[in-house]
Amino acid sequence: VSLKESFKEQVLARLMPATRLERQPGPLPEFLNEWTLLAEDRGASASDELLDLAAELIAATRQVPLDRMGGRAPDATFDLWPGEHYRLLTAIGDVLAPSLAIDIGTATGYSALTFLRSPKVGRVTTIDIVPWRSADFGGPTGLRDDDFGPRLRQVVTDLADATAFAAHADELAEADVVFVDGPKDGIFEQRFMPHFLARPPRQRQLVVIDDIRVLTMVKLWRQLPNPRLDLTSFGHFSGTGLLLRSP
Ligand SMILES: C[S@@+](CC[C@H](N)C(=O)[O-])C[C@H]1O[C@@H](n2cnc3c(N)ncnc32)[C@H](O)[C@@H]1O
Repeated sequence: VSLKESFKEQVLARLMPATRLERQPGPLPEFLNEWTLLAEDRGASASDELLDLAAELIAATRQVPLDRMGGRAPDATFDLWPGEHYRLLTAIGDVLAPSLAIDIGTATGYSALTFLRSPKVGRVTTIDIVPWRSADFGGPTGLRDDDFGPRLRQVVTDLADATAFAAHADELAEADVVFVDGPKDGIFEQRFMPHFLARPPRQRQLVVIDDIRVLTMVKLWRQLPNPRLDLTSFGHFSGTGLLLRSP
């Protein structure tokens, strides 16, 4: 095979999965690194309010201590920023002081724990189809029984299901912050987001969407209403999107 042919094969091998919009492992031998897509997004526009908020969040994230989530996280990956989003999520708590933050996708609990780390966060509802005790998402759960109480509860439900969604629509409209970190399987977010967006929030609401540059998420992200801002360079390497909603 000529060098030119082999190059062509390599390019095609990378593009083919992309056209099928599957999640693909990326080049590093590490957990959940994957190929993402980088291309201009002419439909996106941020408002002054969202740009100001983003600048405030970047400054506040730098103040979040590099201590593996106060010792709760298993390794220094959780301190990585930019690259990971955990310190940014604590900063969102510090800056917005949400009475209620909703964390969609509990998994091993680290996004819920990083919100709770901010003393300014009132309470967190974390939602998953899997109960936290049996979660096994690249490791055992980081949650403990005593994390649950007035500041944290878990709801076990399938938010992609219209009836299940309706049962939680009020709480989702009440939230000041919603973190959307589901499976990105090309199904869940595509079903959940239209239900979620059909119901306006009760007050200003910041929606943080993970993995917006992962191939299963690109189209969905680009179809979201403005004001929105791709904050990936100051968030998770696989894409961090901010959407600001008003009543
Ligand atoms: C990427 S993980 C969440 C990671 C977590 N937010 C963190 O930062 O540690 C995605 C989670 O979405 C959950 N999930 C999958 N389908 C779901 C559904 N239909 N409704 C709610 N959660 C779902 C999975 O069980 C998994 O725990």
